[in-house]
Amino acid sequence: MKRKIKVSPSVIAADQARLGSEVRRIEKAGADLLHIDIMDGHFVPNITIGPDVVSALDKITQLPLDVHLMISNPKEHLEAFAQAGADYITVHIESCKGNAGRVISRIKSLGKKAGVSLNPSTPLSAIKKVLKDVDMVLVMTVEPGFCGQKFMLSVVPKIKSLRKIFKGDIAVDGGINQETAGYVISCGANILASGSHIFKAKNPRRAIEGLRRCQKK
Ligand code: DX5
Ligand code: ZN
Repeated sequence: MKRKIKVSPSVIAADQARLGSEVRRIEKAGADLLHIDIMDGHFVPNITIGPDVVSALDKITQLPLDVHLMISNPKEHLEAFAQAGADYITVHIESCKGNAGRVISRIKSLGKKAGVSLNPSTPLSAIKKVLKDVDMVLVMTVEPGFCGQKFMLSVVPKIKSLRKIFKGDIAVDGGINQETAGYVISCGANILASGSHIFKAKNPRRAIEGLRRCQKK
């Protein structure tokens, strides 16, 4: 089954001093979603933005907000990000401490699409129980925390195995560019979160279209 490839530029790679105009720029360039990395300096060694900035961005773009929570205790922050305008809320299985089912049903009770993410070293078995409940699985192809890292080829087989058992959206995140997009699409990924490749591109429209074109005819 041929899935439409959606490109979700990751704003962590944008010029943080001009976030609003950067978001407008990639919306005009044809992005499908806006990937917003939320980091708390505890679950991952970096700190980024919170619900207030998400809400400010929600006011200036029509793009669906694909919010990626790399935070400890995500359950305590779901309402705030839902209120802020998130359309997708993705939590890490590693941060759910065994109550992923309740976290995911809470996201859905807030009327949002629920995603679950797993780090490169986390096996698919860790999310098997929640696959029936989520709209999206976000497969990390770098260690979470920073943009501009090198794609981890070792994660490719996990995407392939996931697509065999999951019919929903498979998103990939980390080091996605013209070289790596083809691998992940051929394994079944249909949402590409891409930061540096798009925001550092001279022509973001060409960069976005280039990623989509990696889908074999
Ligand atoms: C990493 C983030 C990714 C990353 C993407 O923790 O979740 O969204 O910033 O940036 P690139 O595409 O530059 O790896
Ligand atoms: Zn991300």
